[in-house]
Amino acid sequence: MNSLYYERLRQRRLKPGEWVFQEGDPGDYAYIIDQGSVEIFTTLEDQRYVLSVLEPGAIFGELALVDGRNRSASAVACTDTLLTLVTREQVEQRIEAADPILRMLLFVVLSYLRIESTRFRGRSKPDFVKQLGGDPETNLLPRISQAVDLIRMESELQHAIEDGELKLLYQPILSLKDQKVVGFEALTRWYSPSRGLVPPSIFMPLAECTSLIVPVGEWVVEQAFRALQQIEKVTGDRPFISINIANRQIEEPSLTGYLVEQAERYGIERDRIKLEILERTLMDSELAPRWMEECRNLGFRLTLDDFGTGYSSLGYLNRYQFDTLKLDRSFVQELEENANSRSICKAIIDLSHNLGMTVVAEGIEMETQSQLLADMGCSYGQGYLYAKPMSLGTAIEFLQEHLMGPENSRGSVE
Ligand code: C2E
Ligand code: CMP
Ligand code: CA
Ligand code: CA
Repeated sequence: MNSLYYERLRQRRLKPGEWVFQEGDPGDYAYIIDQGSVEIFTTLEDQRYVLSVLEPGAIFGELALVDGRNRSASAVACTDTLLTLVTREQVEQRIEAADPILRMLLFVVLSYLRIESTRFRGRSKPDFVKQLGGDPETNLLPRISQAVDLIRMESELQHAIEDGELKLLYQPILSLKDQKVVGFEALTRWYSPSRGLVPPSIFMPLAECTSLIVPVGEWVVEQAFRALQQIEKVTGDRPFISINIANRQIEEPSLTGYLVEQAERYGIERDRIKLEILERTLMDSELAPRWMEECRNLGFRLTLDDFGTGYSSLGYLNRYQFDTLKLDRSFVQELEENANSRSICKAIIDLSHNLGMTVVAEGIEMETQSQLLADMGCSYGQGYLYAKPMSLGTAIEFLQEHLMGPENSRGSVE
């Protein structure tokens, strides 16, 4: 077979004694041994020190590929050898996509290997921190400090629940027609003593890539249901509550049981509980369809959140039965200037109604947006025009005002 064939398959064939690369070369590939064997060695005062002889299935040359420095050792084929090449792009994309803490650990491990190989060659002991931070090409130090900060934040978050640092806020959802409050969305805040207010866009993904999402999610459910009970006690009104469910929570088998148990504990009818999930969750989680069916059978309501930001696949609307669709803020923002946006919104609203769903428009900040949406037949809205997410006390006051009439109500307590 000719070399073009191997190139296409990203393979390289070598004869015994042929170099793969030499110590100090720049490194653009790592290699997987398909056939044959490869000797890894370093040279010190013309003496060859064999570090390893690698057999099929082994990978080598990964160090330079990942940390962007030169080859730490030489590699030569011992027999007829076939190698598969791993490109920088293949590795880079994966490293970028990896969990930041894993990425940090990878770089720390690699830096130790580098230090070891430098020591072996008897050169001056490298300054660890300088080596990590001093290379402008790889610029590892910011990445590492970022990851270390995430680790710290993670352990702080662990204590945040017990120490009462998490707070649940409630943002009213109103009927666009008469501005009556129909429900609230529960939104979490973390008031960290050392960091100040940490937005959920920072700590929720962190909770999600650890098991912390379970206690955080349960805390949200418990607080929200307790709040709903309190709202009913004070106002006599029975609004619904929308709760955001993260991708990872769906994989947690205990969640639905917990929802049922807490709904009973606080006397909340299940049809007043709306579980908001993102389109991305439907794409990422194989368990999502079964989970949705279970929730539906238990009587909970399902909301498709942020519609318009992801693939906005109409197929999802058809395939999965949602009760509510939330039209993303990005659509609402463009309504006035962009005729296309108006047409798309109108089409989504009509389609949703035809499929038996209600529509909540998110992020309404201006009266004109509210008017346009109402004219298009959108029934419900949520946004700073009406109220920002607010504490339970303020939410109760807001509700009372809105039961009496919409005038003078612009609650805005964070
Ligand atoms: P989301 O579910 O789309 O929530 C709506 C976000 O838009 C909230 O941001 C809310 O404060 C903000 N918002 C509401 N009205 C307006 C408006 O008129 N203008 C603007 N610019 N923004 C508006 P927040 O509270 O920072 O939450 C961000 C995201 O974090 C949420 O997006 C949700 O995905 C996630 N999140 C918040 N709390 C929780 C939670 O308890 N569990 C989970 N899993 N995710 C949560
Ligand atoms: P890289 O530095 O890109 O090129 C040389 C490769 O040899 C290196 O990646 C590792 O894959 C491998 N290597 C380096 N040091 C050792 C060692 N001590 N034992 C086995 N393999 C090594
Ligand atoms: Ca939401
Ligand atoms: Ca949303």
